[in-house]
Amino acid sequence: MTELELIKSTKERLLVSVDEADANVDARELVRFADGDLEKLENAITRRLLGEPLQYIIGEWDFYNCNFRVGEGVLIPRPETELLVDKALEFLGTLNGSNDDGGELANYLYNVVYGKRVRGTYVAEHETVDAKVLDLCSGSGCIAVSIAKNIVDTLPGTKVFAVEKSPVAFEYLKQNIALNRVQRYVVPFCDDVLSGCTNLLGSAKGQFDLVVSNPPYVRSAECEVLQTEVMHEPRLALDGGADGLIFYRAIAERWLSLLKPGGLLLLECGEDQAGDIKAILDATSCGEVEIFDDFAGISRVVALKMY
Ligand SMILES: C[S@@+](CC[C@H](N)C(=O)[O-])C[C@H]1O[C@@H](n2cnc3c(N)ncnc32)[C@H](O)[C@@H]1O
Repeated sequence: MTELELIKSTKERLLVSVDEADANVDARELVRFADGDLEKLENAITRRLLGEPLQYIIGEWDFYNCNFRVGEGVLIPRPETELLVDKALEFLGTLNGSNDDGGELANYLYNVVYGKRVRGTYVAEHETVDAKVLDLCSGSGCIAVSIAKNIVDTLPGTKVFAVEKSPVAFEYLKQNIALNRVQRYVVPFCDDVLSGCTNLLGSAKGQFDLVVSNPPYVRSAECEVLQTEVMHEPRLALDGGADGLIFYRAIAERWLSLLKPGGLLLLECGEDQAGDIKAILDATSCGEVEIFDDFAGISRVVALKMY
């Protein structure tokens, strides 16, 4: 059988439970993944027919212009999240590397993250730190890594601190940082955005240029009735509490003060949440709030520019 015939027959089998548009892409990806091994292809088709997401089966996915390892326990990067990365890069592009603090804060934060056992100094003593970015609820690292990879030519001293609670997702985060060769720029740490990170919160007030987050935002009750593929993704990555907004409130209360004057907060949200999140941020009276639509015309990113 030629590769084309194999794709066609795979597509026909997938159509039993996968819709036409997805079946086309999935068939191509599964045949490419199997690479001529028919037993591997058979196994992959069975998993897909049982509702497992294509991305978990092939173990990787593209986001922005980067590739990410994914699998059970980590959220699959979504195309709509690219809007947040666009807005982040647009903002960072307006900075001019004027943050030279001799690398002291970055050094300090490495110590906060890694504790006393840190070997050597990660940031050279007089290295310029052009921009400090914080990614909360980092998951696969798709936001943190894409930002780093696309800004370091302009701002080579950029440091992105990426916080993730799930130990499984944290392993993917570390792998993806290495895979995309941004170890020098992205610092991962495993902690709780809602109740942890006390050292960082206590020591970095007014220090960050940019805080980004795509937190869990599905209402708890809705987590019970999601599409089969999404049900395979970790509940921890989806569940945003009864009204889906607990992370937004926590970010406004605990994390906003880490931004410096003129700094930017960018939050991704679910399709009917932008108005509520704007109200939460407006109530802080910390800055100007703006809403941006994604390619489907859905209000997807809420931004606050600090006064
Ligand atoms: C919606 S996913 C987003 C992942 C990634 N940023 C992206 O855009 O694909 C939310 C992430 O938050 C993590 N998470 C959930 N609760 C958390 C908490 N209390 N502290 C830190 N991370 C948390 C989940 O494990 C998951 O990786």
